[in-house]
Amino acid sequence: MQVYLNGEYIDHADAKVSVDDRGFLFADGVYEVVRVYDGHPFLMKPHIARMKDGLRALQIDTSSIDDLGQIAERLLRENNLTEGDATIYAQVSRGAAPRKHAFPPNTAPTLYVAAKRFTNHPASWFENGVAAITVPDNRWTRCDIKSIALLPNVLANQAAHAAGAFEALFVKDGVVIEGSHSNLFAVLDGKLITYPKSNYILAGITRTLVIELARELNLPFAEESLLWERLGDVEEMFLSGTTTEVLPVTTVDGKPVGNGRVGAITRQLVNAYARRAHPQVSVSA
Ligand code: PDD
Repeated sequence: MQVYLNGEYIDHADAKVSVDDRGFLFADGVYEVVRVYDGHPFLMKPHIARMKDGLRALQIDTSSIDDLGQIAERLLRENNLTEGDATIYAQVSRGAAPRKHAFPPNTAPTLYVAAKRFTNHPASWFENGVAAITVPDNRWTRCDIKSIALLPNVLANQAAHAAGAFEALFVKDGVVIEGSHSNLFAVLDGKLITYPKSNYILAGITRTLVIELARELNLPFAEESLLWERLGDVEEMFLSGTTTEVLPVTTVDGKPVGNGRVGAITRQLVNAYARRAHPQVSVSA
């Protein structure tokens, strides 16, 4: 597998980063995951825009990713990923320098990009839904930055896997806000809701698309909080994310969501997402 590291296209096995890299020492960097359908990066522009926002927040030069679009295209070609499902992973760290907390002067950022085959989730997950658990949100207050510091997310997702669930939902101040690697939508009192865009969640690119699709479908929608104590009243629930796509959730903490089956609004959005991702394939509603 060919990857890109700091200006070079090299074999994955030869891609080496310094032990002084601030990504390694401080998790001082940002990343993006972009979905690729039949060789076409999906929603690349907003992913690049979000990465630039993150770089600006970290005061790293945004020109470090000026060529990301071309790099991604070349990696897809060179790794024979022009058909089927794949992902692009891109990461920028502040670069390698002797360990000191404050920014080192004149250090070139490290840019790593890889394109990989992606095995989509089984069709049965979209038909029957997946399980989720709730966990306390113990993250920092800048979750809007797609930082590579993901330890709380890793621990939460591991807890979900240990419980036989797909995702862990973070609960902050009594509100279920998002997943460890996905955003959360629910249908409550007939209305589709998702936690408002703020510094407490990552503003998912898929979340924005789902909101757009909901508007197109004339579904009642609002950016509102889902109180943990109202989980028992939720009629439908689903996750959104680059690798997650639009994925129904039918149990939370071992209890069924609504009647325990994938609901009508969720189904419409799963199908609307699939039509956007694969415009050449028609999907029955
Ligand atoms: N995760 N919330 C969190 C905490 C995330 O890590 C992600 C994405 C999302 C969904 O964002 P988007 O729709 O832009 O993918 C929400 C990526 C894919 C990951 O870490 O693998």
